[in-house]
Amino acid sequence: MTPILQFSDVSKIYPLPAGDVIALHRVSFTVQKGEFVAVMGPSGSGKTTLLNLMGCLDVPTEGEISINEIPIAEMSDNELTHLRLTTIGFIFQQFNLFSLLNIIENVTFPQIMKEKGNVSYRHAHQILTSLGLDKKLYTHRPNELSGGQQQRVAIARAMINDPPLLLCDEPTGNLDSKTGKDIMDMLSLLHQAGRTIIMVTHDHQSAGYATRIIRIRDGEIE
Ligand SMILES: Nc1ncnc2c1ncn2[C@@H]1O[C@H](COP(=O)(O)OP(=O)(O)O)[C@@H](O)[C@H]1O
Ligand SMILES: [Mg+2]
Repeated sequence: MTPILQFSDVSKIYPLPAGDVIALHRVSFTVQKGEFVAVMGPSGSGKTTLLNLMGCLDVPTEGEISINEIPIAEMSDNELTHLRLTTIGFIFQQFNLFSLLNIIENVTFPQIMKEKGNVSYRHAHQILTSLGLDKKLYTHRPNELSGGQQQRVAIARAMINDPPLLLCDEPTGNLDSKTGKDIMDMLSLLHQAGRTIIMVTHDHQSAGYATRIIRIRDGEIE
């Protein structure tokens, strides 16, 4: 087994005028390459904080996080940016597409960032087609698409640089159950193709796709 992500005694404290909020308290766990992990816990338990730290979108107050066995605290800003672009894909509950960009521009955005503008649209077309999105939609803006279509675009954008690790925050939280199942089936295919997936969810049906469940309560792993 090869670890792709390791947390070692990680704490996250948000200092607020009314007092410190301890969002995570000495959390330790390892995710191996190829796992599909569901993170479950009540609202406010620290799930989004955990996912943001996993994705290097935020830094811990204490403790060590390693990706591919390299502590991220030892990486330079350039190395971190490169890591985010090549190793990690994000999928959010609110889709988080760029509202002023059309579908194909949304999907190629991380590719443009990585390749410094040098993109081929062929790869984007391939991914969008494999996710069942009609070519006619490519020039539309996100708000002209249904929730399920927008989440497919978000998956395509997350996959465009072929990252081995996919982080999902409530990916079916804004979708009806039939559309949510379609999205979960797509994530499951990506897992079967060898990606590591870590997914925050409230939904037991979605968690059923995972090979392991991490439960979190009041900032601590149960
Ligand atoms: N940026 C922030 N500033 C202050 N407190 C925050 C911030 N983000 C989250 N929190 C607090 O940290 C705790 C965990 O939040 P969060 O990670 O969003 O939980 P979850 O995703 O499980 O609902 C909550 O008490 C929340 O209010
Ligand atoms: Mg959350």
